[in-house]
Amino acid sequence: MRYLNEEMKARKLPELMRFASGKPVSSVADWELRREEIRQILCKYEYGFVPDLPVDMSWEVKKKAEVFGAKAEQSDVEITLRSGDRAFTYPVQIFVPTERVRAASPRTVDGKLPVFLYIGFNNEHSRWVAEELIDNGYLLAYINYQEVAPDKEDGFEGGVSAFFPREQGKEDPGKIALWADAASRALDYVLTLPQADPDRIAVIGHSRLGKTALFCGAMDDRIGLTIANDSGAGGVAVHRGKEGEHVSDLTKNFPFWFCGNFAEYANREGELPFDQHFVISLIAPRRLYVANAQEDLWADPCSEIIACKAASPVYELYGEEGLSLKPGRSIYKKQEELAEWGDSTIQIGRAYHEGHIGYHVRRGTHSLCREDWQLIMEYRDKTNS
Ligand code: GCU
Repeated sequence: MRYLNEEMKARKLPELMRFASGKPVSSVADWELRREEIRQILCKYEYGFVPDLPVDMSWEVKKKAEVFGAKAEQSDVEITLRSGDRAFTYPVQIFVPTERVRAASPRTVDGKLPVFLYIGFNNEHSRWVAEELIDNGYLLAYINYQEVAPDKEDGFEGGVSAFFPREQGKEDPGKIALWADAASRALDYVLTLPQADPDRIAVIGHSRLGKTALFCGAMDDRIGLTIANDSGAGGVAVHRGKEGEHVSDLTKNFPFWFCGNFAEYANREGELPFDQHFVISLIAPRRLYVANAQEDLWADPCSEIIACKAASPVYELYGEEGLSLKPGRSIYKKQEELAEWGDSTIQIGRAYHEGHIGYHVRRGTHSLCREDWQLIMEYRDKTNS
């Protein structure tokens, strides 16, 4: 059995609640300053800075169609970013339940619906998700990450990368930052829709896109709930002491996901001036949902739990609980244990939905499956997020 609270101490994570100057953070006002320091550190050493250009944004609805047996209207929208003589256009698909579905849904409040901003891999696969979410009364905005910037080493010539002038420096944004920023620009559009509830916006992604959703939620305060599914290294899992994928794997196989500085820390995790609990801390006190799979040892569920616990003091500063291990509903008849935290046993297939960080680890391998979506919807209902 693993004792994660003991492991957390042994991993010697950098302190969240202390300024770079050494001064302790003791109030919300202090934290807001420290938060800015943390944001700079993460952009500088891990994800890169997305240039702050004077960007003009416009959108055009290219096509509208009734889908899923008249349960929803799908709009294919193109978002165009312009700056000087540069322009870049990418698509976002919007699915809005029809009036009949909205009227019947308990999730409709004053005519407004909770939103899923879904950063996905595959347009075909996203359709079953879309229908499931429509049946449950959500508004879905879907972007395909490869249509924003190709997921490959392309010298930052492809997609939105070419739109941003690059300094050719080690702080230039990696693809995760670019995908996340494009999701935020899609959210600018979504918030113009009369049915979108600005108080119930969730961003979601799986795996590399779980990392992307996490960073998006960390950078965009309009997002009330960030959902990172199987996000692992470069996502929710702390790098120090992590099993499975390490910084050296990320920077060898996917250097273009991150900024150049990150590669300096391959095999030197202990020297990183941050760890992934810093990313979570930027989301606090807004909600985060972390989902894992038992067999996803490459992502390392235990290192994600440690990160959530390490970020929880920021929630506490706001009078909220971060990750609560009070056991909720179980989705399996027979329980299996994953690890211990103090007196609590963390079980596979159990919903941990009491805190501002919601959590579950289900059986099986790396994927964002229906069981995950159902538990996530359950958490949204419980927390009105
Ligand atoms: C690889 C990578 C992971 C990533 C995953 C995915 O396995 O090592 O970091 O999460 O791909 O995106 O599917």
